Amino acid sequence: MKITVFSQKKQITFEAERGDNLLRLFSAHSVHIPARCGGNGKCGKCKARLLSGKIAGTKPDERGEFLACLARADGDCSIAVTEEEGGGLQEFGFTRLPHCRGEEGYGVALDVGTTTLAACLVRLSDGRIVSRNSCLNPQAVFGSDVISRIQACAEKENLKELHRSVVDASARLVRTLTQGKMRIKRMTVAGNATMLHLFCGEDPSSIGVYPFRTVFTEEREYGADAFGLPCDRLILLPSVSAYVGADITADMLAADFSHSKENILLADIGTNGEMAILSGGKIVCTSTAAGPALEGACIECGLGGVDGAIDRVYRQNGRLGYTVIGGETAKGICGCGLIDLVARLLEEGAIDETGYMEAEKYRLTDQVYLSQADVRQFQLAKSAIRAGMLALLRRAGRKEEEIDRLIIAGGLGYYIDPSSAAKTGLIPQALKDRAQALGNGSLYGAYLALTDEACREEARRLASRAETIDLSSDATFTEEFMEGMYFS
Ligand code: FES
Repeated sequence: MKITVFSQKKQITFEAERGDNLLRLFSAHSVHIPARCGGNGKCGKCKARLLSGKIAGTKPDERGEFLACLARADGDCSIAVTEEEGGGLQEFGFTRLPHCRGEEGYGVALDVGTTTLAACLVRLSDGRIVSRNSCLNPQAVFGSDVISRIQACAEKENLKELHRSVVDASARLVRTLTQGKMRIKRMTVAGNATMLHLFCGEDPSSIGVYPFRTVFTEEREYGADAFGLPCDRLILLPSVSAYVGADITADMLAADFSHSKENILLADIGTNGEMAILSGGKIVCTSTAAGPALEGACIECGLGGVDGAIDRVYRQNGRLGYTVIGGETAKGICGCGLIDLVARLLEEGAIDETGYMEAEKYRLTDQVYLSQADVRQFQLAKSAIRAGMLALLRRAGRKEEEIDRLIIAGGLGYYIDPSSAAKTGLIPQALKDRAQALGNGSLYGAYLALTDEACREEARRLASRAETIDLSSDATFTEEFMEGMYFS
């Protein structure tokens, strides 16, 4: 049977078997629609509209709308969807240069993020970045966070699909970068431990249950055409531990932890707040479950950093103004916009220090608003990040004022307004003027390890030298987390 899909980006027709899940079919044919709950029929985000024909598994409403994750192919049909837009951050905040040795050929550095993949094609002789590209991580149909994907691996078939889909997407990225015209000499890959396990087809289930063990943390190297990727050598960067992955190793490499004499606090703020502190030559890392609020995932009008998302909220002439990514009509709000909005509402007293909001909803536009439930999600996220930072400072025996630099990695860190972040308590007030954006440090670290053998060795040393602290049984962390829920 034939399924035809219309989206704002394309029209595509593909074959299906009776009973095939429609959300999975979309993903397999690179039609990416939101699927925050991983196909459990709970988040309501995977809406599609039946234009003609029939489906099974669920009944379309009077407008023809249905949840794709509950629907199965049942005959020829045509369906309209709205695809998710956006790609991964490819920018770098500040740069440390590699020492290249005139080697011939080209390489690819790849960051496998939970939400997006980002890659750059590099001339190895001098480290010049020839081109960059990014795409959404197709594993998103199994859920927006690593835990949903780990849970999906309980079924062996899902593990295979999670592996295959991310490798295929990476191969497509490489082909786009090279335009199919050159052979890649080597490829370096950074990402969190779960992403790297799935990348090489290892079952990450043990990462999801106590005592949270990985199958591997050390660097891995594969030969030519590993997993069907068009390169001679494939290198996965080393992780520190189950929840402090190779993305943090790469961030530390990019931030030059090995040579710095400063006290540095580094935070990669996403669904998990992964952090590291460098103090007196010692490195301590940790990770806190911040939830997806700061990526816009569990916020009623939440969006990723894509066109149509409000990314800045400011006060002008006594009223709130905002900017929208792409300059379009506002369709939702992304993490940076959310931080700004909460900060502005705190300033005008519309949210009190407990997080209580007098109005049930605060509207920025007819379509975009902040609800009381959104504020609670935000409080959970910011409190987890802040308490994680305090735990690292405590372990290092440092006060906030003793930190020379707060480096914030990732997309959120690149666009965040540190004053708004400090106003909400997401980052310490004392550090708001010492905050620095690293950009995609994971991609940059992979780039350094690709172009400079000494950096690759450095990544191995950083990963083995860093200590991880587990906050799940830390009573002070729990206390600070509870206190951090307040906006004081
Ligand atoms: S309802 Fe969440 S993915 Fe379908």
